[in-house]
Amino acid sequence: MKASVIVVILCLIVQQKNCVSNCHPKCVCNPKILQCKGFNQDDIESDEFANSITTDLERIHITDGDIPELPRNLLGSCADDSSYHLNALKKLDLQNNGIKKINGYALHCMPNLEELSLANNQWVVSTVHTRTFTNIQNLKKLNLSTAFHDEIDSIVHIKHLRLVLLENPFTKLEVLALDNNKLSVYDADTANTMCTFTSLKRLNLAHNILPRLKFYHKRCMPHLEYLDLSYNSISTFESYSNPNGLLFSLDQIQKASNVSVKFFGNQFDCDCHLREFQDWLNRTEVHVLQKDKLTCHDGVLFEKSIMSVPSTEFECFSVDISISEDKSSYRSSYNTAVGVL
Ligand SMILES: *[C@@H]1O[C@H](CO)[C@@H](O)[C@H](O)[C@H]1NC(C)=O
Ligand SMILES: *[C@@H]1O[C@H](CO)[C@@H](O)[C@H](O)[C@H]1NC(C)=O
Ligand SMILES: *[C@@H]1O[C@H](CO)[C@@H](O)[C@H](O)[C@H]1NC(C)=O
Repeated sequence: MKASVIVVILCLIVQQKNCVSNCHPKCVCNPKILQCKGFNQDDIESDEFANSITTDLERIHITDGDIPELPRNLLGSCADDSSYHLNALKKLDLQNNGIKKINGYALHCMPNLEELSLANNQWVVSTVHTRTFTNIQNLKKLNLSTAFHDEIDSIVHIKHLRLVLLENPFTKLEVLALDNNKLSVYDADTANTMCTFTSLKRLNLAHNILPRLKFYHKRCMPHLEYLDLSYNSISTFESYSNPNGLLFSLDQIQKASNVSVKFFGNQFDCDCHLREFQDWLNRTEVHVLQKDKLTCHDGVLFEKSIMSVPSTEFECFSVDISISEDKSSYRSSYNTAVGVL
């Protein structure tokens, strides 16, 4: 006999009440939408919650609670019962629950999930099971805005996150929000991870502390339409002649897609290296949002609009060791500085 039938019979004997409705008191249960608010750890692990889940559901929202740990088999186990798959489920919203840990197998039995939000949580990525996302390969939208616990070094975050994401070929992912996470590194490894998301259209990296980004135009993000880099710590750009540099890469992407980028709120250092950025702003076909509002962050050109500064005013007064992946020029200018001192 099926477990659910036994439950119904048992509660007919014991309580004769609320047995048919099967809806957790903190939830609103509709045939296709389940909304639960203010859950705690016991609620998420309760039988009443388990009974609220049906295979007809298309959207599940569990929000505004206090759930430190997402349990295994969050929405039921299909391992013991192969007929139990939430095939209709398209959207799972888990925002704002103080989630710190996500156990392996938390997100399975939902093979057609397209949208997952883990926004506003405190996920400690370094403890994460690398196979967290492997069962949701049809995902189109992943919201990890303000999702990570920020006490540990964000370099560790992004490195581990990379492993978690690499484990899963998210080839259908179109929207990825990673904003507000204190991310400080977007290096070649990060670029390679993003490259695996071959359908990506929108990437939000706003409100992090990224000083620079490396892209690989040849293979990466051919469908990119929107890149949000606002409110980061970008002070300057790699030379346009560097094919892994951001500006060159954006121009290559623009040839195939129509891409908009947001740079507002960065800390542009308006020295001689920024002249190249101004030239690029002036000639690129990439749609730069609020182009005229991009301003210099410090020095004599403080708060001047980059577009309005005459190009001769972008001057290098002192030794610059802030950019230059080019080791030889780094070294020679460094030596000069030592010599002067
Ligand atoms: C992600 O979730 C946050 C919090 O609800 C929301 O403000 C933001 O718009 C979402 N991002 C995307 C890309 O949907
Ligand atoms: C490209 O995108 C921008 C911004 O969304 C839009 O204004 C413009 O019309 C688009 N151009 C084409 C050719 O689609
Ligand atoms: C932008 O390009 C035009 C045409 O090449 C040029 O006349 C203008 O001075 C440039 N403006 C800036 C800010 O570089």
